[in-house]
Amino acid sequence: MLSCDILIRNASVLDGSGAESEVLDVALRDGRICEVGSALEWTAPSVVDAEGLTLAPGFIDVHTHDDISVIRTPAMLPKLSQGVTTVIVGNCGISAAPVTLQGEPPDPMNLLGNADAFCYPTFAAYIEAIRDAQPAVNVASLVGHTALRNNHMDRLDRTATEPEITAMRSQLSEALEAGALGLSSGLAYRSANGASTDEVMELAQPLASAGAVYVTHMRTEADGILDAMSEAFEIGRLCHVPVVLSHLKCAGIANWGRSDEVLRALETVRTMQPAGCDCYPYAAGSSTLDLEQVDERVRITITWSAQDPEVAGLTLAQIAEAWSVTQVEAAQRLQPAGAIYHSISEADMRRILAHPATMIGSDGLPNDPRPHPRLWGTFPRVLGRYCRDQNLIALPEAVHKMTGMPAQRFGLAERGFVRKGYCADLSLFNSKKIIDTATFADPIRAAEGIVGVWVNGVLSYTAEGATGKRAGHFIPRGKTAWIQ
Ligand code: ZN
Ligand code: CU
Repeated sequence: MLSCDILIRNASVLDGSGAESEVLDVALRDGRICEVGSALEWTAPSVVDAEGLTLAPGFIDVHTHDDISVIRTPAMLPKLSQGVTTVIVGNCGISAAPVTLQGEPPDPMNLLGNADAFCYPTFAAYIEAIRDAQPAVNVASLVGHTALRNNHMDRLDRTATEPEITAMRSQLSEALEAGALGLSSGLAYRSANGASTDEVMELAQPLASAGAVYVTHMRTEADGILDAMSEAFEIGRLCHVPVVLSHLKCAGIANWGRSDEVLRALETVRTMQPAGCDCYPYAAGSSTLDLEQVDERVRITITWSAQDPEVAGLTLAQIAEAWSVTQVEAAQRLQPAGAIYHSISEADMRRILAHPATMIGSDGLPNDPRPHPRLWGTFPRVLGRYCRDQNLIALPEAVHKMTGMPAQRFGLAERGFVRKGYCADLSLFNSKKIIDTATFADPIRAAEGIVGVWVNGVLSYTAEGATGKRAGHFIPRGKTAWIQ
């Protein structure tokens, strides 16, 4: 009789392609799936009875800011506890590498950590640090445009000169050579807003031949969102590179209800070039505290403040009232600071989340003392609240958005599917019970309903919690595939 290390029996298997589930056995050996079939006649020292449970590929969190936390908190509980087995770091223009700082990190690089966290002048040094840290989840990384600007420019409020772009481009090429997935930008932030479209296009030149992607936190997500989308698509078209719009949303009360036209613009472009987006399942965003987003009609909760750490958890309205100042003035005094903005409409978010172009990304901020609940809740919330309870997305499709689709788009080879020969990244969960428990009031809470998480064939999490085994790898860029 054939033997393997672990045999998972009678699971309702969703293979990550979007296909309906099938009751199957899955055999694991040496970190890989060695067989998938019904009633396998294999023996294993460890047999898991998965009857009544759903087995999916491990979830891929396509939008994270876990760059530093995979090294400093390698247990990666916020993600592992959701069934996430791979995080993509380096989003929104900010990455831990390659970075050389002069002083404190510019906003929003400070979301990743303080100056002492940035000790990877090359992408290769960052990969090395991941190998040494042995995180519990796999890590793949983009290179941040803002990070490159920081390395080569004396000030960030202008567009880069030709020699600066050349220097940035050679660092990007070096990182692509080492396995980076592509380039990310954060053009909405002051540290990159001064960059012209040409700067990004000239920088993005090496992406096409590398088969890499362009991922963007667009120049705006508010009134001018359609123009910002056009800019992103133009960069993709002229540079021959797929485009991912990060955390797609219609921000600000004035833009509620615009998801239809936004999605229509995305659909039109998708008939001509590879493009898609990611989304988190909440009607509130979170980032550094931006004065331009202060709107008295929007509830804004402060997540951290360098000036007044004790205000974390209070709303900006409460702080302004206590200080007898306007909210803008209070926001000025709190700088630098972080915030949660309840500035998205639930209806828009649902429409974007359910769209076939959309992947799931948490955009969680692991450094926040009182983080947005998306850090601990995103994936079980999609599967529990939006699939099971509200019937917004069918379960096989939702799993596809968090597994096979991102693996293909970002070029994560042999991941994202339950297939013979693929890496054994797997999530076993109870589809009747899975749900997020993290809330805005109580955001640091593990989800319910996750029964088992295997990373590279190693059981890393069970219903009892983390097993203490950490088996994540750095994943270099493989071949991408865009199935629109
Ligand atoms: Zn962003
Ligand atoms: Cu982000």
